[in-house]
Amino acid sequence: MKKILIATEKPFAPLAVEGIKNVFAEAGYEVVMLEKYTDAADFLKAVADVDGLIIRSDNVTAEVVNAAQNLKIVVRAGAGYDNIDLAACTQKGVVAMNTPGQNSNAVAELAFGMMLYNIRKAFNGTSGTELRDKKIGIHAYGNVGKYVATIAKGFGMQVYAHDPFVKKEEIEKDGVIAVDSVAELYKTCQYISLHIPANDKTKKSINYELLKTLPKGGTLVNTARKEVINEEGLLKVMAERADFNYLSDLAPDCKDEMLEKYADRTVFTAKKMGAQTSEANINAGLAAAKQIVNFLEKGDKTFQVNK
Ligand code: 3PG
Repeated sequence: MKKILIATEKPFAPLAVEGIKNVFAEAGYEVVMLEKYTDAADFLKAVADVDGLIIRSDNVTAEVVNAAQNLKIVVRAGAGYDNIDLAACTQKGVVAMNTPGQNSNAVAELAFGMMLYNIRKAFNGTSGTELRDKKIGIHAYGNVGKYVATIAKGFGMQVYAHDPFVKKEEIEKDGVIAVDSVAELYKTCQYISLHIPANDKTKKSINYELLKTLPKGGTLVNTARKEVINEEGLLKVMAERADFNYLSDLAPDCKDEMLEKYADRTVFTAKKMGAQTSEANINAGLAAAKQIVNFLEKGDKTFQVNK
């Protein structure tokens, strides 16, 4: 009997877990759950004899891959796979996949939740501002970026985007203004919503030079990854510009300093929660389970990311 481990330090919603278990029950697989673990050693132990693995932001290091003697497939129930050591997977012949698009709406909705919370002064009853007619720049026009564009239009915002991997016509057919460079996006838009992945090219790329160019009331909304921010540059711009705001679902390493000095211009979630909705968990979790069954039964490698 094939054995699947669901290792989620941040558990899926109960309905998603039920759905995932049903998919594997139908396939005749055994499921083992490892939720809310605090010790990586527990993960190493649990993965030892499994054929398949579902994770979220859990780190699949070379150590994990090497500890998993029977592992054939790991699926990241979500978009970003910067938490998986792809080289280690490839070396051991393990297929790594993600589930693109499945949790994107939840992430986009949170971006607006943080914006509203910030401009309505944490709902404290004092006078705030509105999103209508303001310019928002979507930095990377992928699955989340597209949902952000749709919601922004609903708020009556002027929507801009930059993505070197998406044709201008593709962006503009959605009623979004495509700009040629990151620099142009940042100097044009008061709000910037970040949707770039964390990789060698993007890490620390959102720096002082870029941030200082945002128009008055500049607000950086990060539902992507903390690693893409140059925190020194962020702190510098926060210090120099009393109008600058940083709203993030990924607490920066400089969180304490930010909260101590700029509490009214920052919003940080208690824990990364962009994808923490029942719907997103069901969509991504079930997709992951089905991808595992399709791979183990039929060799279907759609969504493989370590080709
Ligand atoms: C993703 O890459 O899909 C998001 O960052 C969601 O991450 P999570 O599953 O840890 O909430």
